[in-house]
Amino acid sequence: MQNHTLTNNDIEMLTLLEFAAQDSLQKYHAAMRQMKTRLETLDQDLKLKQSRNPIHHIESRMKSIQSIFEKLERYGKEQTLDAMEEHIMDIAGLRVIVSYVQDAYDILECLELQDDLKVVAVKDYIANPKPNGYRSLHLIVRIPVFFLKGRQDIPVEIQIRTIAMDFWASLEHDLKYKSVMAVEGVDVGPELKACSQIIEDVESRMQLLANALGDEPETEPHLIARARSLSLDALS
Ligand code: GTP
Ligand code: MG
Repeated sequence: MQNHTLTNNDIEMLTLLEFAAQDSLQKYHAAMRQMKTRLETLDQDLKLKQSRNPIHHIESRMKSIQSIFEKLERYGKEQTLDAMEEHIMDIAGLRVIVSYVQDAYDILECLELQDDLKVVAVKDYIANPKPNGYRSLHLIVRIPVFFLKGRQDIPVEIQIRTIAMDFWASLEHDLKYKSVMAVEGVDVGPELKACSQIIEDVESRMQLLANALGDEPETEPHLIARARSLSLDALS
């Protein structure tokens, strides 16, 4: 934008733009909340089956308008709200931290079975880690949200990763931002990659242990089914 005095018309347009941006972002916020609730429901249900919670915790974040517009510029797209809704799929983001690698795939499978959800993209950086060693399962899922004007399927980015993958990614992110990729005497890039491979190895071993111990359901499903038809009157 050129450096000139804003006219009343400019101010009016900016006010309108701010209003429209808030209106648009709140749709993504609603989608993010609903997606988080779905994941928590799945976690509870899986807990009954496995007698442990596969999800350790869930983090959520909304992308700022500034980084949305920066990303549009990087993509060579117009910096408009229409272009934002068309091209930016990670305005709403959830990070799901799980215990075991298999939990990540179990959650993906459960989401794929929910017939009103659309899993529109899967990037499997667990099966195919990034060259720097980054591992996670990335999904873009469209979730239906009902507004006054009707239903809209809003995209939410979901990153599913284990506690160990999250540990690696957090430290790598820190190091990247501190720009210490060339610490004296240590070649940080290859070192980080080697750490990622060690983590992968440890995780496979932990997974084998978990598989060997098996999942003990908290309560046998047939007992739950029987309890559903029990009448309190029958109790003495
Ligand atoms: P973006 O423009 O970053 O959104 O790239 P993209 O749309 O191709 O998505 P991609 O699947 O590569 O990753 C997007 C997100 O995953 C990032 O915003 C990070 O949160 C995370 N991520 C991806 N690569 C790395 C990495 O090398 N290190 C860490 N720490 N996080 C990463
Ligand atoms: Mg992204």
